[in-house]
Amino acid sequence: MDLKEIRAEALKKLNDLHAKSERDLSATKSHLFGKSGVLTALMRSLKDLPPDQKPQAGKEINDLRIELMSKCDEKEKELHRLVIEEAIRSQELDLSIDVPLHSVGSVHPLNRVKNLLTDYFVGNGYIVYDSPEIETDYYNFQALNVPQDHPARDMQDTFFITDNILLRTQTSSGQVRLMEKYKPPLKMICPGRVYRNDDDSTHSPVFHQMEGLVIDKNVTLCDLKGALDGFAKFIFGESTSVRFRPSYFPFTEPSVEVDVSCFNCHGKGCRVCKNTGWIEILGAGMVNRKVFENCGIDPDEYRGFAFGMGLDRITMILCAINDIKLIWENDVRFLHMFK
Ligand code: PHE
Repeated sequence: MDLKEIRAEALKKLNDLHAKSERDLSATKSHLFGKSGVLTALMRSLKDLPPDQKPQAGKEINDLRIELMSKCDEKEKELHRLVIEEAIRSQELDLSIDVPLHSVGSVHPLNRVKNLLTDYFVGNGYIVYDSPEIETDYYNFQALNVPQDHPARDMQDTFFITDNILLRTQTSSGQVRLMEKYKPPLKMICPGRVYRNDDDSTHSPVFHQMEGLVIDKNVTLCDLKGALDGFAKFIFGESTSVRFRPSYFPFTEPSVEVDVSCFNCHGKGCRVCKNTGWIEILGAGMVNRKVFENCGIDPDEYRGFAFGMGLDRITMILCAINDIKLIWENDVRFLHMFK
């Protein structure tokens, strides 16, 4: 075979290669340049030529070898590119196909309200305190100035586990635990689940409260009003005002019931505020001296205010929910409404 034929045959083979012929390429390479390849054989046969022909023949074979090698390299790169292009083409996405999307979860409306309030109070220097849900009679009642057999116990229908152990009826038990553990000055909120033997469209046997407690040397009822005013404006809007009504809780003296002006009708009267212009949101007061004494804090040195709000109730007001059960049922159709 002469060089022209070898060249023509090799170029034809290379030309016929396609994306899937990487193997054929390496076969072609070994046919040309391998140990028993045609060009190798030609090189070897040089020694049989008469000396005066050797340089010319050697040069021609070598030129062909270099040419074909670079052609093979080019082809190799081209095949590699074709393989990648083919792979991309086979994985191409059809963005026009209509597939059902996975639904993405969201924070429960109650937790959203809890997080919002927690952020507000933490931003104002309060610590977050976690207190047990299964409580002793002492922390839930006695230390809070509700002695055994006192009529004030009737204010809260209680789930007793034993005579002495119960599901806490209020996060106020957290006040006592905090005061026993830390020395004033103190500023804390205690959010959590509470339980009462109650069940209708606005009462659930389990619901959530957020307790607040501030103790320092010169704390007054004005500080309580200021703290709640700031909180109400943050939650219900800048134009919201707060009013105190006298009330009674055994662990605060004086005690107040706190209303905010209706964010919906701004006091004119509507469905949200049951035509009163005001919405009741929490109970509060100045910490009773007896509670300080029970917790080992000198009531002549320190004063404090406390408040306790129902998180479910605030969620219901903000999200216009009319049945507290909806907060508990976790029906995804309902939860989707608050994404
Ligand atoms: N613990 C009271 C309740 O559950 C609310 C409250 C808390 C009142 C703190 C005064 C001070 O009704």
